[in-house]
Amino acid sequence: MVDNQHWLDRWQDDRIGFHEASVNRHLQSWFPRVAPAPGSRVFLPLCGKAVDIHWIAQQGFEVIGVELSQIAIEAFFEENSLDFERNESARFGIYQSANITLLQGNFFDLNKADLDNCHLVYDRAALIAMEREDRPRYYDHMLSILPLSCDMLLVTLEYNQAEMLGPPFSVPTDEVLHRYRDAFSIQMLETNNIIDERPRWRKVGLSKLQESVFSLTR
Ligand SMILES: C[S@@+](CC[C@H](N)C(=O)[O-])C[C@H]1O[C@@H](n2cnc3c(N)ncnc32)[C@H](O)[C@@H]1O
Repeated sequence: MVDNQHWLDRWQDDRIGFHEASVNRHLQSWFPRVAPAPGSRVFLPLCGKAVDIHWIAQQGFEVIGVELSQIAIEAFFEENSLDFERNESARFGIYQSANITLLQGNFFDLNKADLDNCHLVYDRAALIAMEREDRPRYYDHMLSILPLSCDMLLVTLEYNQAEMLGPPFSVPTDEVLHRYRDAFSIQMLETNNIIDERPRWRKVGLSKLQESVFSLTR
């Protein structure tokens, strides 16, 4: 079972194969198209220590992220040479550095007020970190906390779940459409079979790995 402890253990043991050393290529190609007005707030759920956080902040946006692991958050600030202040609320450890706020705690403890003024969600390796049975709760919670004017840039992976256990988990495009279509108009920006870029996963038996990028707008 992939529960909170699973993720905390992975950070503790440095088993973080999901972390990308450079800015996500889809973020770089599509952000200019989906970006909100300069200075707006961008939300990164389950943000890890993604270098994407810093990149978005450097484009002149406010960034708010939520992440369970204190190790991840402190590594983010250290690896990007950013000073931070840490405060505590009842629900979160609050790390702040100029235009970056990272909340250490559980995504499911966020409320609407926490995401006030957010105009874009960037979901990379967040939805796909959730097991199938946990995803309905994820979609519902996401929709319940997002401001009505908030768009989303979403990256998913889809594969035959019988060939690999995950995480990352396979998230079928039909599921994304079904769960989000009442709230957004959804456009698939690109979709590619990237199995050749993941030899380790081919070795464990994966035959195809479809990565898709969606723009969800209000
Ligand atoms: C697959 S990683 C992706 C991290 C980041 N999005 C990236 O692109 O590198 C998923 C992250 O979500 C965090 N996480 C898992 N469940 C969470 C939850 N309920 N609330 C906050 N963070 C969570 C994990 O600690 C892990 O860092």
